[in-house]
Amino acid sequence: MDEPNLQNLRRISRRDLIWMIPSAITAGFFGWLAWRTYSIHFTKTGVSEPVWREGPRVQAAVLNELDAHWRFKYFEYVYNGSPLKAVVFRLSEPVVGGLTVGEAHFLALSRICTHQGCVVNYVDNPELGSIAYNYRTDHPFMGCPCHFGAYEPLQGGKAVYGPPRFPLPRLRLEEENGVLYATGYETPFRPLEQD
Ligand code: FES
Repeated sequence: MDEPNLQNLRRISRRDLIWMIPSAITAGFFGWLAWRTYSIHFTKTGVSEPVWREGPRVQAAVLNELDAHWRFKYFEYVYNGSPLKAVVFRLSEPVVGGLTVGEAHFLALSRICTHQGCVVNYVDNPELGSIAYNYRTDHPFMGCPCHFGAYEPLQGGKAVYGPPRFPLPRLRLEEENGVLYATGYETPFRPLEQD
């Protein structure tokens, strides 16, 4: 039997590298794409009954300011002594962790993206939103300008598209004399707290 020729083996290895390296890069790219597609669509954490932590009592809005579905107001809450950007909406239906006053349904959310902490914004044009955020819906939602994560108020702030996995934390709402107050916040308060 012929001995393998080392010179030939080396030549074959070099020739093989010419297609092996691009193949490995291509396989890596498609693997990354599959993982990203999976994580964008299938690894979002659901929203359940919140566990509240007592916090300062801060005025979020006067009821008159939220006199129609999808009216919203930005306000500042306080987390650990620091100002925290937040939003309160009037919604068309009750959501878990929200507040119902008579026939009106409200929800308050932190505006700090649970991915990497950018400030999320109210996206009031679903048509434009579907282009920018690739999230198709017929109503406003919250969108993060950093990596185009989308959050759905009608699902209690659940992350529905993009890199964020966790929902926007909810703020506990109470109503008194026609005023909505935020009086606490959901734990863990992501991304500032983890489980
Ligand atoms: S920081 Fe919001 S999507 Fe990345």
